[in-house]
Amino acid sequence: MTWRCIVLDKILVTCAWPYINHTPHLGTLIGSVLSADVVARFYRLKGDDVVFVSGSDEHGTPIEVEAVRLGISPRQLTNKNHEKVAALWKKWGISFDNYTRTESPVHKEFVKKLFSKIYDNGYVSDKNAKLPYCPDCKRFLPDRFVEGSCPHCGEENARGDQCDSCGRLLEPAKLINLYCVICKSTPVIKEVRHWYFDLPHFTDELRRFIKKNKNLSSNAKKFSLNIIDEGLKPRSLTRDNKWGIKAPFPGAENKTIYVWVEAVLGYVSATIEYFRNQGENEWKKFWLDESTKTFYFIGKDNIPFHTIVLPALLLASEEPFNLPWAVSSTEFLQFKGERFSKSHKVGIWIDEALRLFSADYWRYFLISTRPETKDTDFSWELFIEKVNADLNDTLGNFIHRTLTFINQHFKSAVPDAKNLDLDDKHVLETVEKAVMKTTKDLEDCKLQAALRGIIDISRLGNRYFNEKEPWKALKTNRQKAANTLYIAAQIVKTLGLTLTPFLPFTAKKIASLLNLPDGGKSHQWRRATKPLPAGHKIRRSNPLFAKIEANGEELQDKLERKEQTPPKTISFEEFSKLDLRVGKVVKAENVQKSKNLMKLQIDIGHGEMKQAVAGIAQHYRPEQLEGKSIAVLANLQPKRIFGLASEVMILASEDAKGVSIIMPEKLVKAGSKIK
Ligand code: MF3
Ligand code: ZN
Repeated sequence: MTWRCIVLDKILVTCAWPYINHTPHLGTLIGSVLSADVVARFYRLKGDDVVFVSGSDEHGTPIEVEAVRLGISPRQLTNKNHEKVAALWKKWGISFDNYTRTESPVHKEFVKKLFSKIYDNGYVSDKNAKLPYCPDCKRFLPDRFVEGSCPHCGEENARGDQCDSCGRLLEPAKLINLYCVICKSTPVIKEVRHWYFDLPHFTDELRRFIKKNKNLSSNAKKFSLNIIDEGLKPRSLTRDNKWGIKAPFPGAENKTIYVWVEAVLGYVSATIEYFRNQGENEWKKFWLDESTKTFYFIGKDNIPFHTIVLPALLLASEEPFNLPWAVSSTEFLQFKGERFSKSHKVGIWIDEALRLFSADYWRYFLISTRPETKDTDFSWELFIEKVNADLNDTLGNFIHRTLTFINQHFKSAVPDAKNLDLDDKHVLETVEKAVMKTTKDLEDCKLQAALRGIIDISRLGNRYFNEKEPWKALKTNRQKAANTLYIAAQIVKTLGLTLTPFLPFTAKKIASLLNLPDGGKSHQWRRATKPLPAGHKIRRSNPLFAKIEANGEELQDKLERKEQTPPKTISFEEFSKLDLRVGKVVKAENVQKSKNLMKLQIDIGHGEMKQAVAGIAQHYRPEQLEGKSIAVLANLQPKRIFGLASEVMILASEDAKGVSIIMPEKLVKAGSKIK
């Protein structure tokens, strides 16, 4: 007997810490957090030793500017948003081992210690700098407190620390036509002492690191070498802001540390915090042990901080910290050709997205359109197509038809296979190869391709099922049908496992339908194609996804409607425009091919009939409503829903338990006004 020793890799997965001034949008999600989650889940399934950390970026001018706008303290703002966002990650199925924040005491202490070390090593020096100062706000204007035109590319509204358009790092005083973002007045230039990091000292080492690193996205490699070739400049480490981590340099007692240079150190401090209770040296294995691989998932605007600033700080500590092993930087996800922007109301946010569809629908869409090589545009049409064609008609359909067939014709037991024919064997081999390809794509952080490979497996499954026609074979050669279903069941199992990193909620459902021992928790990637034994009992199938019946415009409407908070008051005149009445349901029927919609003929008084199409079919049966009096709005502009005219709106309320239609408490004549 030979023993094969399986060496576990240590994998640290990280993603950019989102500024916590707002709830993140879908671009932030796919650019960093979600991509990292897929990879962390993948390596865990492979059996590696994985730690996945990130946190809320709480300091810096993005937070301060928003707090000033809202008239609250930065801490109030970040406390509120951090809680909210941390809870949202759970709803999105993000499997962080530690999602912390930059106000965490462990982080602050680590940052101060590391900068003291860098100072002692001689890489920090102070000098006087000329910086914009707003005489009206009585404050210096670092970073995002000041905007102006970019001295490199001319982009207007470039920010004090970075130009969004060309991505270059900037110095605030170098902006052209600069103005204070709070009061819009023109700043004066004042001299003030600051502490600088000797970034140029590390030029050669950084160039070598970037050149030889095979796991940098091509945009990261190109961009980083470019700015090194343009010549690195000393970076200022201090700010005059009060909100932030106190600078530990002698003479800098009133200063705080620049947000970027402290936030990037969060990758280390979050690992330390995670291992805090598990022995002093544990975290060191993930940072000082050369065999550990560290992955960074970021948007392209974050590149220089991860390929230059972070490595330089780690080198300057003169401790043997691991430099990034892989940096996977995405392009931007845009919304109708524009960047997501809260202030311009462009885009979709991670809280509202979940009000429309559950997490796996979005996870599927976002990963399958991940902007890996170019900026991509979000569109509802593409979203609907991906969900309907890929999730529902291909993946969901294959799994459901396979499992129902086994339910109905094999008493829910995986049939026994005998004498597989060439097609059968070929399908199994093709699946095996496809899993290998998906594995390779995941290792290369090509998440789009990896997921496409899995959908292709279900497409193959459908084709195989169609060609084998087991419903016919059942009557002529039962063993042949059994072979087909045996193989189809194996493919379902493979799909369930390989989907886990991408669609964790769906994967769990598949594991449950397949009745896997311990709900599939002991799943292992390398056993993705290990067959289910003949005779294994599965559960009764039900569909995994539902087709989206609305069109893009309706979905956008729905999103905005939920976002609108009604005005505090309306005038009586406005109220009197609403024709609210009691209507009598004369006829009700479910809309064919729709899960949610019911069509109602309503007598709105004096026998005048109007049609309503309402999303209540999951909550009421038609016969429960026929003959009932209900509250309606009779003068809503007619609208087409699912191709049917809807002329009145029925009034209902909704809570966690479901939808309840509003009905008068006593018998009221159809057409009676509601006032
Ligand atoms: N807060 C930054 C942003 O949203 C990202 C910080 S990443 C880290 O663009 F390196 F600082 F963690
Ligand atoms: Zn620029």
